[in-house]
Amino acid sequence: MDTIENFIAGIPKAELHLHIEGTFEPELMFEIARRNNLRLKYDSIEDLKLAYNFNNLQEFLDIYYSGADVLLEEQDFYDLTWAYLQKIHSQNVIHTEIFFDPQTHTLRGVPFSKVITGIHRALNDGRTKLGISSKLILSILRHLSEESAFQTIGDALEYKSWITAIGLDSSEKGHPPSKFRRVFEKVLEEGFLTVAHAGEEGPPEYVWEAINLLHVSRIDHGNRSLEDQALVDELAMRKMPLTVCPLSNLKLKVVKDMTKHPLTEMLDKGLMATVNSDDPAYFGGYVNENYLAVANALNLSKEQIVQLAKNSFTASFLDEVEKQAMIEKVEMFSNR
Ligand code: ADE
Ligand code: ZN
Repeated sequence: MDTIENFIAGIPKAELHLHIEGTFEPELMFEIARRNNLRLKYDSIEDLKLAYNFNNLQEFLDIYYSGADVLLEEQDFYDLTWAYLQKIHSQNVIHTEIFFDPQTHTLRGVPFSKVITGIHRALNDGRTKLGISSKLILSILRHLSEESAFQTIGDALEYKSWITAIGLDSSEKGHPPSKFRRVFEKVLEEGFLTVAHAGEEGPPEYVWEAINLLHVSRIDHGNRSLEDQALVDELAMRKMPLTVCPLSNLKLKVVKDMTKHPLTEMLDKGLMATVNSDDPAYFGGYVNENYLAVANALNLSKEQIVQLAKNSFTASFLDEVEKQAMIEKVEMFSNR
């Protein structure tokens, strides 16, 4: 008999909510800082890790953006992405859809081309050397202006074929999706899919706006949707995926403790919930640790874990044939 840990480790999975800048492990951060002749604010890896104690989203973001400041060269973005791909390969993640935050880099003078070329080259190697398929999602920083968002979309158009979707992340409160309605109109016209972080710290109203104004294909997080029954009904009716991130929710105090996590309530209410790692280097775990944390705290059954793994492919941006092929792999694993 498999332990739950082995079952989670072995089951084929997709990851749909992952910020590549959030995979920046302290060891690699110090190495890249050194080769770029930059000093981090912290003297050692231990000191840096001591700072990973957050009371809310903003406290995390301040540290996350300052870590990303040492990324300068195309090779830095390659190394960051390649390290993540090797890690998830060891966890049986066979498909990943990753966010990158270009404004975090372009506003420091790093060209958009270096950022996207490094990430894209690693994703190609992930495909050929590790057999991991992937999609790239450009995420707009919502605490910045509409003008900066339009500028970023302008940069992205040169690399249109490398980018599947446009997302919205960063400080949620006070920056509703409606702030970017015109930007998202433009990207939809250009043929991109759209997603948005909503209902992580922000109210259910932001989830409504993401659906009705940004025409999103997925909601990232979505926890606070449960406060609004009409919204729950709407999400269920649309089979709208929620990319849920349990360890992130715990570390950013979106949930008090893991036994109070709303994942089972979401599944019980017919919502298309998936499990993801968000910023694994900062929150203490990659996808498997996220599955295990909820499996233990919420006493998930193997059937629920299989459902979550299937949801991860159903909710992905793969085509229907690819989705079916990967869902069959889940079934073969669970019936073996
Ligand atoms: N950027 C990286 N992680 C994020 C999160 N959990 N919420 C909003 N923006 C983010
Ligand atoms: Zn996120």
